[in-house]
Amino acid sequence: MSEEIAVVPGDGIGAEVVPVAVDVLDAVGDFSFVHADAGDAVAAETDDPLPEETREAAAAADATLFGAAGETAADVVLPLRSAVDSFVNVRPARTYPGVDALQPDTDLVFLRENTEGVYAGHEATLADGVTTTTRVVTREASARLAEFACDYAPEGFTVAHKANVMRETDGLFKQTVEDVAEGNDVPTEDALMDALAMHLVQSPEDYDVVVCPNLAGDVLSDLSAGLVGGLGLLPSANLGPERGLFEPVHGSAPDIAGEGVANPAATVLSAAMLLEFLGHDDEGQRVRSAVETVLAEGPRTPDVGGEASTKEMRDALLAQLG
Ligand code: NAI
Ligand code: MG
Repeated sequence: MSEEIAVVPGDGIGAEVVPVAVDVLDAVGDFSFVHADAGDAVAAETDDPLPEETREAAAAADATLFGAAGETAADVVLPLRSAVDSFVNVRPARTYPGVDALQPDTDLVFLRENTEGVYAGHEATLADGVTTTTRVVTREASARLAEFACDYAPEGFTVAHKANVMRETDGLFKQTVEDVAEGNDVPTEDALMDALAMHLVQSPEDYDVVVCPNLAGDVLSDLSAGLVGGLGLLPSANLGPERGLFEPVHGSAPDIAGEGVANPAATVLSAAMLLEFLGHDDEGQRVRSAVETVLAEGPRTPDVGGEASTKEMRDALLAQLG
């Protein structure tokens, strides 16, 4: 039986790079695709950036491939992530031969808590000019992330936190993650997230897998995009117990949208993570190798030092996949 993949291209370059990833998935597997709309364009027509049928398509499919939304991103991405019940955001950031990078020896994976922290959505205006947010950290969510991290990185990982200041919330996060790791015989080191940001810039080769609260994971993974040569290369996976949502880290890139020069690598690498999530490890590896070869030999889009179009990179990827 072929698995069902919901495809949500969204706005801007999302609509340019997602079809490339769909062609790649089609080249290596036998999937049925369900196309659905989300983002600014659909909101302009219906006032709703995430139509109910799109949410339902993501909740029903075996996996969802999402491109990007524009201004409505928060109203699309957060509900889509919860539609697949995702609790961890996996964000690899590595360098590729052939692509200039600030730090050529970077090979990091951020495991970001995906449901709470300051993104829990409990914001309030108490009075004119006075606002608050409630930072939510629970033992359950921290332990679930830690169990995932132990499976993902049995050789050990770094725990990012700021428990010296946020004693209750990050205190609970750090303690819970360390307890779960100890119970699984997985070694950990901890790092204050601000100092870690500096160390990642100076010597990313000292780190491997970094387990983070929600906001820290968002910021540190974007920082690492800068180390490896840009957002056009960074995939991500939002994983739940049964389903996943796979999306590039980048947004709709209005500055280049419509020009046909968006780098499809981040979305194609997200599709490789999708394949692995569905248990198609060999196919995932084939897609990864194709991306590596094309980045090394060209054609490459302008963001990674080339002059090629999205279509030329697509054709080269499909040629690699034979
Ligand atoms: P962005 O990621 O869209 O673009 C940042 C810069 O990186 C731009 O110069 C862009 O041209 C370049 N870039 C990004 N992806 C690229 C690719 N695949 N190939 C070549 N160059 C690429 O972030 P920005 O400019 O902060 O946001 C633009 C819009 O995207 C905003 O409306 C924002 O709300 C939305 N956004 C949506 C996200 C999502 O849907 N998950 C995530 C981030 C931003
Ligand atoms: Mg971000």
